[in-house]
Amino acid sequence: MEQLSQVLSVALNEMKLIASIHDLEQLKSRYVGKQGLITAFMQKLKDLAHEERKAFGAQVNQVKTEFETALVVQRDAILAQELNNKLANESIDVSLPGRGCGTGSLHPVTLALNRVVKIFAQLGFAVADGPEIENDYYNFKALNIPDNHPARAMQDTFYTEAGNVLRTHTSPIQVRYAETRTPPIKIVAPGRVYRVDMDATHSPMFHQMELLWIENGISFANLKAIIIEFMRKFFEDDSLQVRFRASFFPFTEPSAEIDIFFSKTGKWLEVGGCGMVHPKVLNYMNISSNEYTGFAFGFGIDRLAMLKYGITDLRLMFENDLDFLTQFKGL
Ligand code: DAH
Repeated sequence: MEQLSQVLSVALNEMKLIASIHDLEQLKSRYVGKQGLITAFMQKLKDLAHEERKAFGAQVNQVKTEFETALVVQRDAILAQELNNKLANESIDVSLPGRGCGTGSLHPVTLALNRVVKIFAQLGFAVADGPEIENDYYNFKALNIPDNHPARAMQDTFYTEAGNVLRTHTSPIQVRYAETRTPPIKIVAPGRVYRVDMDATHSPMFHQMELLWIENGISFANLKAIIIEFMRKFFEDDSLQVRFRASFFPFTEPSAEIDIFFSKTGKWLEVGGCGMVHPKVLNYMNISSNEYTGFAFGFGIDRLAMLKYGITDLRLMFENDLDFLTQFKGL
C-alpha cells in the first residue's frame, strides 16, 4: 500500500509539469493503461490472501480514481492555457495602417467598344454575337467570297486542324443573325477577329464591329447618315468631316471605304468599309432582295480607340502594361 501511494504521488507530481494534451495522454497510458504502473497493482491482487484482497482492491481503486480526477483537472488546465496562448498570439492590432488595395480600370478597347455600342443603341441597334472559331461557309461563302476568290488573299487566315477558321472579320455575324430572322434587322456585332499579321499597326488578334440594317426602303443615304452621325458622336466633334470612297467588297454593292479628316495631323484616315448588302448575301440570309435592301458597315475598334485616345502603337493595346493601362482610369 505504501508503494501504491508513492506511485500516486510521483504520478501527480509528473502530471503537474505536463503542458500538452499529447504528453498527458502518454502519462495516462503509462499509469492506467494495460501495462500501466497503477494497473500492475490490480494484477497483484490475485497473489494476496482473501482477507487482504478486499482492502487492497479498494485502495487501488481509490488511487486510480484520484489519478483520473487529477487527469481531468490537468486536461482542463492545459486546454485553457492553449486557448489563452492562441488568443494572445492571434490578437490583431487594429491600430495598424491598412495595406490599401488599388482599383482596376477599363481597357481602352473596352472603353471604345462601350462608347460605340452606346451610340448605336441610342440609334436603335441591338447587339449581336457570333463564334470566334468560324466555318468557311459563314466567314467566306455566305458573304459571296467563293473558293479561289482573290478576296480571300486580302485576309491571311488562321485555319484550325479541323478545317475551320479563326474568323477574319465580324461580317459572318451578319449572316448568322439574319438567316433566322425577318426584317427589320438592326444590329451591331462587336468581337475579336484574327489574321496572320503583326507590326506597329497590325496585331494577329484585333477587334472589329459590324453593323447591319436591313429594312424596306433602306438606301445609301441612310448608310451615310448613320455613319456620319456615329463618327461625329464617337469623336465628340459635330463638324468632323467624313468621306466615302468608292471601293470593293464581295458582300456589298456598291461598296465604299470611309475616311475621316483627322485635324491633329491634317490627314484623311481610313476607318472602315461599308456598302449596300449584296443581293447574293441577302439570298444566303433567306431574305428577298426584291422586297428588302440593307447596308453593312465594318470597322476596327482598336483603330478608333487609338485615334480617340491618342495611342500610337497598336501593340500597346495587347501588352497589358499597367503603366499604360492605368492612364485610362476614369475615362
Ligand atoms: N469585313 C471587312 C473587313 O474585315 C470590313 C467590311 C467592309 C465590313 C464592308 C462591312 C462592309 O460590313 O460593308 O475588311
